[in-house]
Amino acid sequence: MEGYLSANLFRLYIILVKVAYPKKASLVTGPTPIEVFQSLPDWPSGLKIFLKRDDLTSLLLSGNKARKLEFIATDIIKKKADTLITCGGIQSNHARATAILATQMGLKSLLVLRGKPDTEAQGNLFLDRLVGAEIKHITPAEYEYVDRIMEEETEKLRQLGRRPYIIPEGASSELGVWGYIKATVEILSQLKKSKIKVDRVVCAIGSGGTYAGLFLGSKVFGWKVRITGFNVCYTADYFKNRIGNLITSFLQKYRWRLKVDWNEVDIVDGYVGDGYARSRPIERDLIAGVARSSGIILDPVYTGKAMLGLVEETRKGTIGPKEKVLFLHTGGIYGLFPIAHLFYPPAADKKTRPGAQPVEKLDLFSGKR
Ligand SMILES: Cc1ncc(COP(=O)(O)O)c(C=O)c1O
Repeated sequence: MEGYLSANLFRLYIILVKVAYPKKASLVTGPTPIEVFQSLPDWPSGLKIFLKRDDLTSLLLSGNKARKLEFIATDIIKKKADTLITCGGIQSNHARATAILATQMGLKSLLVLRGKPDTEAQGNLFLDRLVGAEIKHITPAEYEYVDRIMEEETEKLRQLGRRPYIIPEGASSELGVWGYIKATVEILSQLKKSKIKVDRVVCAIGSGGTYAGLFLGSKVFGWKVRITGFNVCYTADYFKNRIGNLITSFLQKYRWRLKVDWNEVDIVDGYVGDGYARSRPIERDLIAGVARSSGIILDPVYTGKAMLGLVEETRKGTIGPKEKVLFLHTGGIYGLFPIAHLFYPPAADKKTRPGAQPVEKLDLFSGKR
């Protein structure tokens, strides 16, 4: 009893004293809905999937980025920055969200993007240009030291009397992590109201901030749930390390006395597919199938791969057939447009590559590939 009391008192202490949120701007309108996922026809009966519709956050449907940037935006104002600098792939959702945020705040933006300068302005890149972002294209080899490049750009701008502000890749900084700690409160309140109990939360991992926030949120609010992340680049081990470092520096920065059992960081490898931002027919089939059966639009870089992970792990039995799963839809819709031709090839393409069309009937659960 004593142990029970002191554990609960400690939790109360954490909630009242430690979870003093940093100030945030308002970029996420209202709680995003949690819906029953009317998913694929042959999904195992018993498995219940709910969708947390964070694809519907504001900042022009910026998904999980809106939640992280909410906290970062306040710091930008505090530091009186006039230029936001960030980085990512050529179709980075985060870079586009940052460019839009900058323009909405009356600031300039400089995006350091991995890709060729002659890339067609489509999807996110098109929006970057449209809102007036300055773009610096770098090669994949240069991207290895992108933090240094951003520092150099910062220095150049300072010399010109500007006040640049670097947002790290994916806004996955200690401040950005608050986004999904706060989101955990929102989710818990929604689940309580709808009397839904979930066993597992599933999300995509690209830079780790979303996972780190959910993980910390679940621990600090005593939510007994498994958080499963599917990495869409690198490896599970790489992200266990990166997320571990992020959580550790968050705990230090905000002086949280939380003991982390690192074995609980559950990251499942095997769904990077052909590589980061490369799309395979099986992923496109799943995206098309989900779109047709539910009207939910997954993206090819993150949520499509995480959903494939959920399908496959369910098929293999690692995710139990009777589990209740909350799938975090983190957005990314603009990443679909640059690959529309892979879904529906132009007529000329069909003749030369007859297999390049989405399969009409999904056969995801048979194990035949
Ligand atoms: C649409 C989408 N989903 C998921 C992620 C992964 O989130 P995180 O970078 O916090 O791991 C990202 C960005 O990386 C994203 O743009």
